[in-house]
Amino acid sequence: MVSAAAVFSAIAVLVSAATLVVAQEGASAGTITVPVTYSCDPNVCKPPACFCASTKPPGGLDPKNIPMFITLTFDDSINSVVWPIIQNFTEGWNPNPNGCPHSSTFFVSNQYTEYNYVSYLYSMGHEIAVHTVNHIANAPQAEIRASQQATNAFGGVPMNQLLGFRHPFLAFDGASFDGLAGLGTFLYDSSMPEDSNSSGFWPYTLDNGPAVGCASGTCDGPFRYPGLWEIPLNTLLNSDLTENGPMDPNPVPGGAVGQPTATEIFELLKFNFLRRYNGDRAPMGIFIHAATQIAVPARTAGFLQFFQWTQETYPNDVYYINNQQLLSWMLNPTDVATSKGSPTLGCRLPAIDPSNPEICDGINNKARGGVLAADPGLVMSCAFPPMSYWSTCFGCPNIDVNTTEPVPPRSGNRTIVPAAGCGAGAWDPVGAKVSFRLSCLLLLFTSVVVGAAN
Ligand SMILES: *[C@@H]1O[C@H](CO)[C@@H](O)[C@H](O)[C@H]1NC(C)=O
Ligand SMILES: *[C@@H]1O[C@H](CO)[C@@H](O)[C@H](O)[C@H]1NC(C)=O
Ligand SMILES: *[C@@H]1O[C@H](CO)[C@@H](O)[C@H](O)[C@H]1NC(C)=O
Ligand SMILES: *[C@@H]1O[C@H](CO)[C@@H](O)[C@H](O)[C@H]1NC(C)=O
Ligand SMILES: [Zn+2]
Repeated sequence: MVSAAAVFSAIAVLVSAATLVVAQEGASAGTITVPVTYSCDPNVCKPPACFCASTKPPGGLDPKNIPMFITLTFDDSINSVVWPIIQNFTEGWNPNPNGCPHSSTFFVSNQYTEYNYVSYLYSMGHEIAVHTVNHIANAPQAEIRASQQATNAFGGVPMNQLLGFRHPFLAFDGASFDGLAGLGTFLYDSSMPEDSNSSGFWPYTLDNGPAVGCASGTCDGPFRYPGLWEIPLNTLLNSDLTENGPMDPNPVPGGAVGQPTATEIFELLKFNFLRRYNGDRAPMGIFIHAATQIAVPARTAGFLQFFQWTQETYPNDVYYINNQQLLSWMLNPTDVATSKGSPTLGCRLPAIDPSNPEICDGINNKARGGVLAADPGLVMSCAFPPMSYWSTCFGCPNIDVNTTEPVPPRSGNRTIVPAAGCGAGAWDPVGAKVSFRLSCLLLLFTSVVVGAAN
């Protein structure tokens, strides 16, 4: 049994590490310049294999008739410290206009991550993506590969669903992109802040290099990655059109010193939403670190006020979706009415019916009550003193994961989720079988996009 003091000191280290990360990542992208000459011929670069960068919606659709997409993404480790914040942001909302719950994308770094939370988020229909094992700038390929493998093995996310990557600190170069593209298993990167004075770029493939967005990294070398999408971080602008930042809102000009207040965050988000909604409806990204919100709880209220305002004001055409859904919709773009029934915006609904057998999938379907109580008797607690403690449905490894051993030998007989996933079921790692569950309705949107990447 792990002593309380050991756990406490691990959490203290964890918080200081998270704060360090936050201080360095995405605080400001500096002045965004356009350092490259981008050109893309839509007669040559055609979907689904290739997609030209544009500020206009795909398919020649009129922006007034398409859904407005909001992508809420979280970066870094997921654990008990940031869990209450993640719940504040992701739970309790009305569903999207098509009946699917809000879905977010989590770029997970493995160090300090407790994997049972990853299983829960995946089972609840969120997208899990990759952010290196140790949160390293200009990510070496081993960091990317090991992170994908460890999250698959211990978080129970099928390999064919781990398709996205964000560079830690948004710091990248040609070598890190070579490594990412070279793995051949990733569909998209999302690391390049872009000036949203243009009203924002839609995602595009890097066949013809970056459209803009080399401010936080180096676009050196040929920098051409056929089929690899870039989901830009369109920066938030202040009301005087100066840049606020791509991630975690900064103080606004003339506003409170230090952290923005809830009202300032609400007004900032509303201003940027309306520019997009009344413009070309480029997706609005809300790119945050849960750990940033811990220090100043009032900030959370500003975000929640904004979510509530969009739900009340635009119940028919605003969708909170993950990055895979966004790309899937872009490959088959449809107007508001058609989008409502489109599989591109479909979802995996959690299997929370109490009549389902209890399996180790992060969800307690017998009695709801939070992730810690989920899957009673099935989650295993792993300890790697003095720093690392985490739980998983997939057996404790004999050492903590690292870049050379992302999946060390594991105790017990738990079986890792099949690489290709489980179709309309949920994976039972104890019985090593797919559990088909009455309440699980799957619209397999990712198969559309994966085909395009390969
Ligand atoms: C956007 O344009 C305005 C007006 O031209 C300019 O003052 C502002 O600095 C620009 N913002 C960014 C982020 O480039
Ligand atoms: C976030 O959730 C916690 C409970 O986990 C609650 O006490 C707190 O008031 C919430 N914060 C906001 C801003 O809603
Ligand atoms: C990973 O752990 C193994 C076993 O302890 C060790 O031999 C190896 O050097 C570690 N790799 C890294 C990159 O730390
Ligand atoms: C693993 O062990 C448990 C408990 O002994 C057993 O019930 C289960 O069938 C085993 N699973 C596999 C895949 O062998
Ligand atoms: Zn990060």
